[in-house]
Amino acid sequence: MFYSDELVEEIRDRNDIVDVISSYVRLQKKGSSYFGLCPFHNEKSPSFSVSSDKQMYYCFGCGAGGNVITFLMEYENYNFKEALEVLAERAGIELPQQSLSVEAKANWDLKTRLLEMHKEAALYYYHLLKSEQGQIGYNYLTNRGLSEQTIRSFGLGYSSSYPNDLYQFLKGKGYKDSELKESGLVSISEKGVYDKFWNRVMFPIMDTNNRVIGFGGRVMGDGNPKYLNSPETKIFDKSRNLYGLNVAKKSKKGYFLICEGYMDVISLHQAGFTNAVASLGTAFTSGHALLLKRYTEQVILTYDSDEAGKRAALRAIPILKEVGIGVKVLNMKPYKDPDEFIKHLGAEEFEQRIKTAMNGFLFEIEVLKEQYEMNDPEQKTKFMTKVVEKLIEFSDELERNNYIDAVANYLMISGDALRKRVNELGNRGFYTQKKETKVTTAQRKKQDKVDGNKEAQRFILTRLSEDVSLYEKIKHIISEDDFVEPLYRKVAQLLFLQLEENNVNPAKIMNHFLENEEEAKLVGAVFHQTLKEELSQEEKNKALKEAIIRIKKQHLEEASKQVQDISELQAIVEKQRQLKELSNFSL
Ligand code: GTP
Ligand code: MN
Repeated sequence: MFYSDELVEEIRDRNDIVDVISSYVRLQKKGSSYFGLCPFHNEKSPSFSVSSDKQMYYCFGCGAGGNVITFLMEYENYNFKEALEVLAERAGIELPQQSLSVEAKANWDLKTRLLEMHKEAALYYYHLLKSEQGQIGYNYLTNRGLSEQTIRSFGLGYSSSYPNDLYQFLKGKGYKDSELKESGLVSISEKGVYDKFWNRVMFPIMDTNNRVIGFGGRVMGDGNPKYLNSPETKIFDKSRNLYGLNVAKKSKKGYFLICEGYMDVISLHQAGFTNAVASLGTAFTSGHALLLKRYTEQVILTYDSDEAGKRAALRAIPILKEVGIGVKVLNMKPYKDPDEFIKHLGAEEFEQRIKTAMNGFLFEIEVLKEQYEMNDPEQKTKFMTKVVEKLIEFSDELERNNYIDAVANYLMISGDALRKRVNELGNRGFYTQKKETKVTTAQRKKQDKVDGNKEAQRFILTRLSEDVSLYEKIKHIISEDDFVEPLYRKVAQLLFLQLEENNVNPAKIMNHFLENEEEAKLVGAVFHQTLKEELSQEEKNKALKEAIIRIKKQHLEEASKQVQDISELQAIVEKQRQLKELSNFSL
């Protein structure tokens, strides 16, 4: 770790978790905890809890959990070092100057290095665009109508036509081949060293914190591939970033525009629609939807007017609905995409199209309708049946009725007749059934046992952290070795140490698990009672006893698999016998 454990702990300690999270999530006090809507998954009722005592958060819905450092890492997509820097500044703690010793450099978090490298590369491409060499790129962009100001604010650039120009530049800045390989900006093999992007206009891709995480590059004129994009790297996750979101997130419009391409986003922003974003040369994913959900509840799809754009919209609609974002679809005709539309008809006309954008559901119905010959009664009936099936999917009655009216109106048919059909089919229990994967009983039993063992280990740790007086009562019975799961064993070690010193501090324990997201989640969960644990004192004690016996039994079972000689085996048998007697210890 880059900073000392003491410093990390000081920074954590001086940033109250309730204060920090309150600036992202609206929290309400309930008992000893605060509750709010989880920012890491979609939900309608709050299951995200923040404990002031423990200085930890936990979501009962999705299992996200941790301390103030992990929260920033997850929410802002920061790496460990960045999260610490932000929190140190917030608390007015000065971080020691980083000495660039050989060792420190080697330890430097690769992600930080990659981010710095991308920033350098973006500056370099920008500089080239303004140089004589890049004149051709600059002309290309201005010919497409981009202003000097737009070019600057999006940091557009130009990649040289020399095959390893960027490589040479970055080498000169001290980046090692091993780091350059990880960046996706160059390829290094027996065949030689080549930049990924040659002779293209460059679009730096930024995350919501304005850090360059990748690039798109376009050929000037015709050529294949038209766009080349950075591959996914340690800092570039295409399914969790959107082009333009760093700017769009500041928009006050109350809705976002989603389009297909870099040039669309840029043209829209230049025309004043600074709420436009695009996915990064990939399909729209639920990761994108969740990301957007942090900033808005309404989007308008401004995909291309061609068949591919229509299909892309049909795919995106259910993904957005799933997370609770309302969707409309903008009619771009007769132009292909927002860039061309605005060039020909201007911003005002586009604004008009925004106002008249079609409800996402009606758009789906319209596309469906195109597949049927509506003059043929048989075809029309089939179509109507499909429409009814789609309407049944609205589980909220009011919403369903509103949609029935809207569809009836749109198709110019009787609303009552449509409602009757929907109710008939609904009452017959015609609901879309989710396919369940078949699991054999034996498989399930085995999995249940494994889960049960883990759950028992977790439960003991949870109880100990909640009620420290339990430790005195069970410390002669249980040891950290009884925790067979390596992660829980490590937590047990740390927690037992704190219990010995009579200074329990869950958020401090969390500091040890920041590097691995999955681990952080599991450890976060340890320090939060799950809802089903709202038991009486007596029930809690009983559950604790059972859990202790269970994990000791498992420990012995595991140990017996590894015995080397007969005396070891005898010792285990003896312990197993003692375990039976143990069942009546008192709490
Ligand atoms: P312009 O022709 O520059 O106006 O671009 P466009 O946005 O109109 O192009 P298009 O609709 O063809 O592409 C939309 C988006 O898809 C682009 O912004 C790229 O992210 C991606 N894309 C387009 N062509 C390619 C390609 O050849 N390869 C890859 N990987 N992505 C592409
Ligand atoms: Mn275009």
